[in-house]
Amino acid sequence: MTDRTPAVPAGPAIALADATLSYGPRTLWSGLTVNVRPGEFLAVLGPNGAGKTSLLKVLLGVQSLSSGTVTVAGSPARTGNPRVGYIPQQKTLEAGITMRGRDLVGLGVDGHRWGPGLAGRRRRRAAVDAAVKAVGAERYADAPVGLLSGGEQQRLRVAQALAGDPAVLLCDEPLLSLDMANQQRVARLIDERRRSADTAVLFVTHEINPILPMVDRVLYLVDGRFRIGTPDEVMTSEVLSELYRTEVDVLRVRGRLVVVGSGDGIDEARTAEVDEAACAGHDIGHTHDHEVSR
Ligand SMILES: Nc1ncnc2c1ncn2[C@@H]1O[C@H](COP(=O)(O)OP(=O)(O)OP(=O)(O)O)[C@@H](O)[C@H]1O
Ligand SMILES: [Mg+2]
Repeated sequence: MTDRTPAVPAGPAIALADATLSYGPRTLWSGLTVNVRPGEFLAVLGPNGAGKTSLLKVLLGVQSLSSGTVTVAGSPARTGNPRVGYIPQQKTLEAGITMRGRDLVGLGVDGHRWGPGLAGRRRRRAAVDAAVKAVGAERYADAPVGLLSGGEQQRLRVAQALAGDPAVLLCDEPLLSLDMANQQRVARLIDERRRSADTAVLFVTHEINPILPMVDRVLYLVDGRFRIGTPDEVMTSEVLSELYRTEVDVLRVRGRLVVVGSGDGIDEARTAEVDEAACAGHDIGHTHDHEVSR
């Protein structure tokens, strides 16, 4: 009726339909149907080896599905799609790498978008500067990346992914090796990005608490089984016990989730410590306020 109504409703940013991924005889997951809306924040959780990184590789077009279909930003998943930003699971860069941080960020910028010539180069440089500033990396952006700390490198990777102005942002444990302040900073940055630009975010993590307020839905993968829903629907004792096939308790302590269990891949959070922290009114230890260990 109004001219603000789009003629064609925007399709999902990510669409997986009846997707199966097997490596040889081993099936990581099957029958996975997920539509991620533009601007939606989907957290992907699960123990080591559940197939979280493999899922991102499918979305990046570097790994084919065994069956089913996948579209990303409106077209079949393919490598080199400039509409897709990617923060890879952390690997420390070799000390010998002499590329400057600013150049690493620049690799994420789609050159064509800024136009040719001097003006284009200026606009491109401005985009890199803005991304460097957004992650607070100005101090070390001109140093060789191989000499930076793991957390500093990680912030540059985040800047690189955001500099590309992605419609879909795929993040593989992006908070690893960041201190608490920078975890908050990066999480907020990604949250702002999806709110301001309608970027769909798929966020693989072992620690849901730093992003809990931002998460719309959770996809939880365990040994071929999965559940998808809001955190309240998925992060329950009942659902996690079913997924892990062992007794798991999900505790809510001062707005945080603590998962307690003894199965493979479940953090054995010490309940005594949790109780003590809750009673004493201080924060639970940094290593036990999350749900699944690596
Ligand atoms: N190309 C491949 N060929 C065969 N097996 C593979 C391949 N890539 C990954 N795998 C196996 O598939 C399983 C899932 O790997 P993946 O990296 O997706 O796990 P993940 O959920 O990301 O785990 P983590 O939490 O440790 O990062 C692992 O057991 C891994 O060894
Ligand atoms: Mg992984």
